[in-house]
Amino acid sequence: MMAGPGADDAGGGLARHIPVLLSEVLSALAPRPGETIVDGTFGAGGYTRALLEAGASVIATDRDPDAIAAGRALEAEAAGRLRLVEGPFSRLDALAGEPVDGVVLDIGVSSMQLDEAERGFSFRHDGPLDMRMAQAGASAADIVNRAGVSDLTRIFGLLGEERHAGRIARMIEKRRAERPFLRTRDLADAIERLVGRKPGDRIHPATRVFQGLRIFVNNELGELARALLAAERALKPGGRLAVVTFHSLEDRIVKRFLAERSGRAGGGSRHLPEAKGPAATFERPAAAVPPSEAEMTANPRARSARLRAAVRTAAPARGGELSDFDVPLIGGVSGANQ
Ligand SMILES: C[S@@+](CC[C@H](N)C(=O)[O-])C[C@H]1O[C@@H](n2cnc3c(N)ncnc32)[C@H](O)[C@@H]1O
Repeated sequence: MMAGPGADDAGGGLARHIPVLLSEVLSALAPRPGETIVDGTFGAGGYTRALLEAGASVIATDRDPDAIAAGRALEAEAAGRLRLVEGPFSRLDALAGEPVDGVVLDIGVSSMQLDEAERGFSFRHDGPLDMRMAQAGASAADIVNRAGVSDLTRIFGLLGEERHAGRIARMIEKRRAERPFLRTRDLADAIERLVGRKPGDRIHPATRVFQGLRIFVNNELGELARALLAAERALKPGGRLAVVTFHSLEDRIVKRFLAERSGRAGGGSRHLPEAKGPAATFERPAAAVPPSEAEMTANPRARSARLRAAVRTAAPARGGELSDFDVPLIGGVSGANQ
């Protein structure tokens, strides 16, 4: 499941960013005055504002310098209760620099990123083929014009769940030999010419390719896996973790992590059935929470969102590797920008 039907760019979008699953996130985080919560994905500050209103202090991170710059006014208003830090949430424990009572992540792109043509996430608005949240490192154009056909096929097929991944990759290889792809609309039009668009198709034929590229350019799955490990290190005993994801690859990473860390998976073995696995680092993992019908009607972007939450125990963080998470590797890496 990728961004909901009707999305026609790298992740669906609205004119302004409406926080997704906000009341559900707040009940999972249960912020109290005097507590400190990390909002790992500050974006337009929707969650952060609500956390501040509940009396908590917030350390908010975002790797997009534009999001951080736009949040400085709120930081000034918050009179010492908000600290904004530019950086990747895979390092949220180091960026926070202190044990915290809650961590929230709202994975994906913001509507500001989608709607700004120059950021290159969308083909509704023509722009440079960029897609870099952090505005640094390899861009989508670098990948499209340089990656081999088999890597492009995996990016579109595994990360974008695109049925025509191989055909599209071969078309790109041929076309870029004559003229590189530099603009979002150029790539979207070339894909549409190749695979066609049937009347009644709810999404543009380039949507899944754009999503796969966005996930790879921003190393989104590797970042998510590392952020879960960072949250395990950062949370105090009793601290709450809440993660909102937008497609099945992301949700699976969070679901498996919480099942494993709450002792529902592993522990013991066929040969030593009485041997216990390491102590659970999380408890009370909640079933995935979808948005209400009312929220989906009011905000179609929310359609594929799922919230998962759990509570940190007092057991020491276990640590782990990217390979524990089944993050697909393409050309040996989980994404272009590590
Ligand atoms: C869906 S928006 C968050 C919206 C926010 N919850 C709100 O209510 O306004 C996601 C934000 O997370 C940021 N982001 C995505 N991946 C990130 C990462 N690995 N590290 C830090 N920030 C990231 C994006 O730049 C974007 O601003």
